[in-house]
Amino acid sequence: MPGVSPEPWLSSQRLYPAYVWADVFQRNAPVEIDLGAGDGVYAEARARREPERDFIAVERLLGRATKIAKKAVRHGLTNLKVLRIESWYFIKNLCQAGTLDAITLRYPDPWPKRRHHGNRILNKEFAQDASKAVRVGGLLKLTTDDLDYFEWAKKEVAHCVSWQVEESWSGEGEPTSEFEELFAQEGRHVYRKAWRRL
Ligand SMILES: C[S@@+](CC[C@H](N)C(=O)[O-])C[C@H]1O[C@@H](n2cnc3c(N)ncnc32)[C@H](O)[C@@H]1O
Repeated sequence: MPGVSPEPWLSSQRLYPAYVWADVFQRNAPVEIDLGAGDGVYAEARARREPERDFIAVERLLGRATKIAKKAVRHGLTNLKVLRIESWYFIKNLCQAGTLDAITLRYPDPWPKRRHHGNRILNKEFAQDASKAVRVGGLLKLTTDDLDYFEWAKKEVAHCVSWQVEESWSGEGEPTSEFEELFAQEGRHVYRKAWRRL
């Protein structure tokens, strides 16, 4: 309705059942998830650029999630929702099987110490859960500045036979994000990989 801001928030109180995306967005369109979305620079850019697709930005910090919600309202983006929740819980419990077009992970916290590796989001259990949520032909995309995490994540995802490395994906043309800008200024090398759901 003209002049009325869309409600960008999905409730953090919802722990089950999984969402029906057609109800959330009031239409049938491809749905992509930005996990650990930060301030939502990337999700906002995608939503503005691709009005024919729907996006959910998942972020556990309230301050950052609020910034994403403000961006969605400011630009009247009916195709961008924000959810303050833990990423793994969301993918495992709130996404119906085969309903996602893509999951994006940009600069997930690298947890460099070995004893903290259990906190890394992209491990083999996550890869398994993500393979259930993503439709056949859909993508799981990782961008990171941390080589150790990158190499580790590739091995973890390889445990799941439902994912095949998508050699053609280079990340080219993807909008930037807050951390990407930061790391570019510091001249850090960036590693990218995508897997396609078989
Ligand atoms: C390094 S920042 C990257 C932010 C953004 N993707 C970017 O590229 O600018 C990682 C973000 O993931 C969020 N985060 C970390 N672990 C999370 C989890 N388990 N569930 C949801 N968000 C998480 C953090 O709060 C933080 O905003």
